[in-house]
Amino acid sequence: MALLPPRLFLDSADPADWEQWLPLGVFHGVTTNPLLLDRAGQDCTLANLARLGGRAFDLGAREIHLQVWGDDEDALVTCGRELVGLAPQVAVKVPATDTGLRAARRLLAEEVGVTVTAVYNAGQVLAAAALGVLYAAPYLGRIDDLGRDGTAEVIAMHELLRSTENPTRLLVASLRDWDKVVELAWEGLDTFTISPAVAAAMLDDPDTDDAADAFEEAARRRGG
Ligand code: E4P
Repeated sequence: MALLPPRLFLDSADPADWEQWLPLGVFHGVTTNPLLLDRAGQDCTLANLARLGGRAFDLGAREIHLQVWGDDEDALVTCGRELVGLAPQVAVKVPATDTGLRAARRLLAEEVGVTVTAVYNAGQVLAAAALGVLYAAPYLGRIDDLGRDGTAEVIAMHELLRSTENPTRLLVASLRDWDKVVELAWEGLDTFTISPAVAAAMLDDPDTDDAADAFEEAARRRGG
C-alpha cells in the first residue's frame, strides 16, 4: 500500500492567516465556514468568496473548502453549484443535517466534491461514506465539550471507514491542541484541519529557534 503524506488544512477564513501559513507549503489548503468568515470580518457572499479563493490559490492552496448556506435543500444545492463554479478545486461543505445530506446527494450526482461537516457521531460518518463524499469532518473538540471522549470517538470513526475500505477521508476538525493531532496520527488518521493558533503551537518551537541561531553564530565565527 502506498504511503501518503498527511493532509493538513488551515482552518481559517482570514487571508492574513493564509499569508502567514500557506507559503510554508505544509498545508494542502484551507477550510472555511460562515462562522470563520464572520470571525475574520469577511462577507459571506459569492463575490467575496471568489476574491478570497483567488487569494488562497495564489498563496499555494491546492484545495479550498467553502460552505453552503441557504434556507432549504434547493438553496443549498444552488449555493453549492455556485461555489464549485468559482474553481474546480473547491470542496463544497454541507452540514450533516437531513437537508444537508439531501443537498450533498444532488451535488455529488453533478460530480461536485463534497465535505460533510459538523459531524458529531459515527452514524453520520457512515452516511457520508455511503453517499461517497470526499471528506467527513468530525468536530473533536466540540464532542469533548459535550462531556464525551472526542478522541476515542474519532478513532472509532476512522476504524469504521478503514474496515469498510471506504475512500471517504476523515477530516478531523475542532482540534484545540497539536498533541491531539500527533496522537491521532499514531492511530493512522492522516487528514486534519487546524487553526492558526494550533499551527503556531505545533510549528513554532523556541528551542529550534535557539538551535538555528547557534548554527548561524557558528557559521559567522567560521567566516560564513
Ligand atoms: C471547522 O469547520 C470548524 O471551523 C472548526 O474546526 C470548529 O472548531 P471550534 O469547535 O474550535 O470552533
